[in-house]
Amino acid sequence: MFACICRGVTEEEVHEHFDNGCRTLDDVGDRCGAGEGCGTCIERITEILGGRSATASSAA
Ligand code: FES
Repeated sequence: MFACICRGVTEEEVHEHFDNGCRTLDDVGDRCGAGEGCGTCIERITEILGGRSATASSAA
């Protein structure tokens, strides 16, 4: 499923960017451009990153 349709970035790719050190929307945008078009996806990408951060911190 696409997270960002403007840039053709899938949710899977957002997870991969998190795994590779991206922690913010800007980090992901720098990596693949997601969120830098219409902005519709910003909430979804922020949710994904927030969910991963919460999981990562509770696992630590
Ligand atoms: S859907 Fe991501 S910037 Fe438009």
